[in-house]
Amino acid sequence: MKIAVLPGDGIGTEIVAEAVKVLNALELPFEMESALVGGAAYEVHGHPLPESTLQLAKDADAVLFGAVGDWKYDTLDRPLRPEQAILGLRKNLGLFANFRPAICYPELVGASSLKPEIISGLDILIIRELTGDIYFGQPRGRRTAVDGHFPGSEEAFDTMRYSRPEIERIAHVAFQAARKRSKKVTSVDKANVLETFQFWKDVVTEVGKEYPDVALDHMYVDNAAMQLVKAPKKFDVVVTGNMFGDILSDEASMLTGSIGMLPSASLNTKNQGLYEPSHGSAPDIAGKGIANPLATILSAAMMLRFSLNQPDAANRIETAVQSVLASGLRTVDIWSEGTTKVGTRQMGDAVVAAITKTITKG
Ligand code: IPM
Ligand code: MG
Repeated sequence: MKIAVLPGDGIGTEIVAEAVKVLNALELPFEMESALVGGAAYEVHGHPLPESTLQLAKDADAVLFGAVGDWKYDTLDRPLRPEQAILGLRKNLGLFANFRPAICYPELVGASSLKPEIISGLDILIIRELTGDIYFGQPRGRRTAVDGHFPGSEEAFDTMRYSRPEIERIAHVAFQAARKRSKKVTSVDKANVLETFQFWKDVVTEVGKEYPDVALDHMYVDNAAMQLVKAPKKFDVVVTGNMFGDILSDEASMLTGSIGMLPSASLNTKNQGLYEPSHGSAPDIAGKGIANPLATILSAAMMLRFSLNQPDAANRIETAVQSVLASGLRTVDIWSEGTTKVGTRQMGDAVVAAITKTITKG
């Protein structure tokens, strides 16, 4: 079981260290190798995704990823910005299917900005297409580092594009995931305005005919954004394109109390996967030892389940996280009156302790 460990920038290094600790506590035969990625790689190799890092990721069964990005790189020529590392990994490894579950843990109901009755018991799954859409269209009018302006151009555009096979394969992923849940898929589009998303809607509908046991409905993205805060429990599996999925998954994450809790998995057709927290590099709190490592630890659990075929180990991590939350430990992002505030490392240690206990108990 080869794992490429790519901590990246900002809080990435702190949270990935905790997830690695948790993996080690499982005492399974993992081979873990680390490499630089994002701004950290740019500093050393002059590129956010050096060939050696990409190769390590390609050769691994799974990639454990932290986060990339820092405002200080905002003026770099776009291909050199840290974000290009994660986009390059997705594209090069063909990681088209992005799973972003939003689960509200009972202990954290009070940490959400929404009323408890709206979110308690929430368990939805956003499936975001990850290698197409406007993210990988043809950009124009690239701002250069030289003067921070768009040279010789009075306009800029990005093209939105989806091919039939790209939509078909993500639709299949969504319907199959729904079969294992409550058999309901909501496809989110903007078919009332965009051709790309009329096509999306048509193709998803066609694929849906192969899954008569799964209910399919369609929703415009603006309405979906509204329904997510109004009545999120009406959703189960949500499938959407790259751009809408980016936005809606951030929104969904906050329903659960903190974006610091949400793991994600990005899979290719061979079940090789990249696992990362749904949140970013949070440069404002980097190095302070206060970041919540649970999203990354839960991402490691998803890795065990989806790419490494170790469902028991995955369960052990998830149960450990639940027991740590039940014991009242909280990082600052999920802290509330009456609970115990801990730092990144203490939170990781507590999860390790909970796992070790279950191992001893057998
Ligand atoms: C995410 C992030 C990335 C994205 C950025 C860092 C390129 O926001 O994974 O959601 O836009 O996909
Ligand atoms: Mg995002």
